[in-house]
Amino acid sequence: MNTFIQRCSVKHGFIGFGNLAKAVYRGLEEEKGMQFGYFARSRKEIPIPFHERMEELVEFADVIWLMVKPQDLEGILTQLRQHDTRGKTIVSPVAGKPIAYIERFLGKEQRVVRIMPNLAIAYRESVTAVATNRPGCSEAMDLFDLLGKMGKAVWLEESGFDLFTSVFGSGPAFILAFIQTFKEKMQEFNLPSPLLDELLLELTQGTTTYFTRNQQRYSIEELIQNITSKGGTTQAGLDYFREQQLGKHFEGVLDAARKRSEEMSRNGDN
Ligand SMILES: NC(=O)c1ccc[n+]([C@@H]2O[C@H](COP(=O)([O-])OP(=O)(O)OC[C@H]3O[C@@H](n4cnc5c(N)ncnc54)[C@H](OP(=O)(O)O)[C@@H]3O)[C@@H](O)[C@H]2O)c1
Repeated sequence: MNTFIQRCSVKHGFIGFGNLAKAVYRGLEEEKGMQFGYFARSRKEIPIPFHERMEELVEFADVIWLMVKPQDLEGILTQLRQHDTRGKTIVSPVAGKPIAYIERFLGKEQRVVRIMPNLAIAYRESVTAVATNRPGCSEAMDLFDLLGKMGKAVWLEESGFDLFTSVFGSGPAFILAFIQTFKEKMQEFNLPSPLLDELLLELTQGTTTYFTRNQQRYSIEELIQNITSKGGTTQAGLDYFREQQLGKHFEGVLDAARKRSEEMSRNGDN
């Protein structure tokens, strides 16, 4: 069987079906021939089979996604270790729970892939970090390829997951907070709020397109330079940005998020 057919016939089973599981399912459902099932505390309004017992889901699935909150993982793994998961791939997006934690319940022989996606996986635009205890094995590589189709996927040492979470997990909120500052300034125009949002959306989409079209030829610094005329308005704003070291302050935002992610990894309280 070639890799394409193998990938198409993979059965994906979700343990827990909340926000992230929904997003992953939405992202994957366009893939041809895949089968899905889920196990959760209650049945959801979704067109995929609900398994009332975890055992049934484990029997069904080739890939078992652990889609529960960190504080619920221990209970789920305690249940899961009572079932035969040999030969199956366990995928965990659970924040702050390393592969070694899962191995403590399921054993070191269990194939585990740890990921850190974001909700944009629903429209196949997630940036997803991936780590595994079976580097190079075909199932892990196939999963990596699949996540790559859901946006961009990158192999990352687990020690990098906290920083990655602060940039790519929390990042959309930070960028939106920046846009919010633009919006507050634009209140002076006295335009309706939805129209301001539309204008800002166009600004960010235009910027993204400018970045997308040129990123292979120019660095970010050069792209900024291209918009900046000597002695002009952009130059004045950028001078202030640099004098006040706003970039450095913004790094503080990322550091704070990373620190919180590290604390949560230690305490398991996320
Ligand atoms: N949301 C994100 O953007 C995001 C991004 C990256 C990583 N993550 C990670 O993904 C995981 C899931 O996050 P989420 O936002 O999807 O959480 P969520 O919306 O709260 O969903 C959690 C799911 O777990 C189920 N569950 C809890 N205890 C259970 C049990 N004992 N047996 C069966 N099902 C159980 C719940 O079932 P019921 O609905 O039936 O109660 C619910 O469907 C978290 O660990 C988080 O760290 C999330």
